[in-house]
Amino acid sequence: CYSAVLTARNENFAKVKQSDIMAFENFLGKDGVQKDDISNHTTDWTGQFKGHGSLVLYPKSTDEVSAILAYCSKNKLAVVPQGGNTGLVGGSIPVHDEIILSMNKISQQFAFDDTMGILKCDAGFILEELDNKLAKHGYMMPFDLGAKGSCQIGGNIATCAGGIRLIRYGSLHAHLLGVTVVLPDEQGSVLHLGSDIRKDNTSLHTPHLFLGSEGQLGVITSVTMTAVPRPKSVQSAMLGVQSFEKCCEVLKLAKSRLCEVLSSFEFLDDAIMECLKTNLGLHPVLNSPTPFSILVETSGSNEDHDMEKMSAFLDELLSKKLIVDGVLAGSSADAAKMWKLRESAPLAVTRDGYVYKHDVSLPLNSYYELTNVMKERCGDLAKRVVTYGHLGDGNTHLNITSSKQNENLEKLYVSILIPILLLIFRMYPFLYEWVVAHGGSISAEHGIGQLKLPYSNLGKESEERLLTKKLKNIFDPNGILNPYKMI
Ligand code: FAD
Ligand code: MLT
Ligand code: ZN
Repeated sequence: CYSAVLTARNENFAKVKQSDIMAFENFLGKDGVQKDDISNHTTDWTGQFKGHGSLVLYPKSTDEVSAILAYCSKNKLAVVPQGGNTGLVGGSIPVHDEIILSMNKISQQFAFDDTMGILKCDAGFILEELDNKLAKHGYMMPFDLGAKGSCQIGGNIATCAGGIRLIRYGSLHAHLLGVTVVLPDEQGSVLHLGSDIRKDNTSLHTPHLFLGSEGQLGVITSVTMTAVPRPKSVQSAMLGVQSFEKCCEVLKLAKSRLCEVLSSFEFLDDAIMECLKTNLGLHPVLNSPTPFSILVETSGSNEDHDMEKMSAFLDELLSKKLIVDGVLAGSSADAAKMWKLRESAPLAVTRDGYVYKHDVSLPLNSYYELTNVMKERCGDLAKRVVTYGHLGDGNTHLNITSSKQNENLEKLYVSILIPILLLIFRMYPFLYEWVVAHGGSISAEHGIGQLKLPYSNLGKESEERLLTKKLKNIFDPNGILNPYKMI
């Protein structure tokens, strides 16, 4: 468990007193303050981060967030913003005794312009709820992820979530137009940044500072962004591939042949397929096992046209011997079965007991080499070394599992001169240094949070780090917002 081992408590922060609780109850009402049974707010989805916070606040509006942050700033109380608490790096979990500011009750305002496709809503809306609302207008959210049933749009913006459609619709940078944020200063300043229109080049694009800001700069209470037309025809196919090089060839061909209708290109290796079968009883849809499987999806507006493209693509893959097996979903139930495999991968690995999760970007020529390097390095100490991910975005999720947290898996002792032993770290920082040395990023989409804090300087110029710190000081002069994390 990572809790609180990385950074000592900052003793400049005050501890919550009874008078603070009374003040919060005064401006939020008794139902806006929770002191007991808060473990679902102090533990993350993986169970690896456990914080020591003892208070959860539930504001219902931007004004209430403003009142909380003004009070906390004046009284030097540290605060951690929390959305759906599905983040995978411990960013939403208090490290010491920070107050948890839950966004669960800020989900009233929803407006949608179905001509321009512009959505404006409160930050506490759950992603799937928004998507269902947009469906009634023939639109959908421009991104999708396995945690859609619990994560919130504010949390998605704060993590710059990627997911399974980025190859088609781009990152959230392509969609964010405006945010309302509350700053952790003594006024609890409310800023409306950006605008509610599609094009506006009149100032710096300040809303984008909040994309991937991990609750470091301010609390996002409202979001304006573009949605995309909901496709009328969606085709999914699972492909069996013998080598990673061929997977890359398939990707290249998918981009050229499926072109404007290509909407997902997801990757699973045989180790995660085995894990899905053993741990969740989910069986592959391909007839025979292959080292690699690819889930490709097209989304368009004309079923005949899209199906024709997909079928021609599959024929070409077979004739060029790029795949050895391919199954085209004949119904939405078939497609759901394929997606269930991909979306259950994060859950399947947790069932081994303990999982070392990695989320890195790499140029494709190093993408799977990392898996092979780590397999070799971990040997029999790991229960499994599995990889799935968003291959079309160069984003790999390498997961190394073990029945429980295993120090030997993290560290490696090498004898240099008996009896002198040299301690080498088997997994960290080796893995992240390897990623940076191969031109990658140590976090493609999950962020830094607590998990990657010790390595967050890797691959970043000192000037960029300094600039980031200066920005943090402008937004959060007392440093009370989400301390001990990314910045
Ligand atoms: P939280 O976990 O509550 O918070 C995440 C961070 O954002 C924290 O630092 C928190 O302080 C901050 N924050 C939250 N809300 C606000 C706010 N309103 N204002 C300011 N700061 C805020 N991520 C991907 O990118 N792609 C995936 O494909 C993906 N798949 C996932 C699948 C599963 C099964 C799970 C469990 C997670 C997955 N994730 C994925 C990670 C996670 O779902 C995303 O990071 C998500 O965007 C987090 O949203 P949340 O509301 O749960 O935020
Ligand atoms: C995914 O793509 O499934 C998510 O990012 C979660 C994970 O990495 O396990
Ligand atoms: Zn992912």
